[in-house]
Amino acid sequence: MNSKDMLLAVKKINVHYGDFQALHQVSLQIRAGSIVSIIGANGAGKSTLLNTILGINKPASGEIMFLGDNIHGLPTNRIVAKGLAMSPEGSSVFKKLTVKENLLMGAYLPRARKQKNKNLERVYTLFPVLRDKAGQEASYLSGGQRQMLAIARALMSEPKLLCCDEISLGLAPIIIKDIYLTIKKINEQGLTIILVDQDVRRSLTYSDFSYVMLKGQIVMAGKSSALGEEAVKEAYFGLHKADKQ
Ligand SMILES: Nc1ncnc2c1ncn2[C@@H]1O[C@H](COP(=O)(O)OP(=O)(O)OP(=O)(O)O)[C@@H](O)[C@H]1O
Ligand SMILES: [Mg+2]
Repeated sequence: MNSKDMLLAVKKINVHYGDFQALHQVSLQIRAGSIVSIIGANGAGKSTLLNTILGINKPASGEIMFLGDNIHGLPTNRIVAKGLAMSPEGSSVFKKLTVKENLLMGAYLPRARKQKNKNLERVYTLFPVLRDKAGQEASYLSGGQRQMLAIARALMSEPKLLCCDEISLGLAPIIIKDIYLTIKKINEQGLTIILVDQDVRRSLTYSDFSYVMLKGQIVMAGKSSALGEEAVKEAYFGLHKADKQ
């Protein structure tokens, strides 16, 4: 890959929780303008990887390059200021705040604060239900609406790369489709996206490139259209050479 096309490069990171090593020598590259999915069973390390990219977990070793700068070790707010954002697992939102207040929480950095009205309009256009419910407490939202709010809040920081963790967990199929179509639209508007979803088939369908994780390692990578069934088996049953030995 030409280095100027590369938005993010994770190089051989190792991450531990106390004595337990959750990521082993994980490397990946995210090309600008793409949708990349990270698939793997429960506990594979997907959230740990996203949290490490965002600076929430600190790698013991390795490098994380974003737009040519090493962001390894920076605090999360500096990483967000550089153009990374996360829609976290469990679509966690501030339940006692209104929808609009939640969105404004995503625009806390000076650059984004200046653009907040323009960006509010943008996310209300992408997710019209959030405009309708702007004045309501987030605790009244359905699961799908909460997921939309979590994505929209991340967009309020004007990211160049959006990481979405467990984008469809627990949601009805019709809502999932709606969210994926919006993700596609956001991508077509120029945003690069990393997707994590237990719904492997759907995330393969909507992404350009995929990485498969198993027990804290990347065990397979390729164009999503080419990975297919093999990736699904790998992700869930770990039919990896290392496991057969
Ligand atoms: N805060 C923590 N402390 C200790 N161990 C943790 C912590 N968070 C995650 N782990 C462990 O690290 C491993 C990777 O967890 P992680 O949450 O990254 O997986 P995941 O692929 O996101 O799983 P899921 O599909 O369930 O969201 C698991 O074995 C998990 O038990
Ligand atoms: Mg997770």
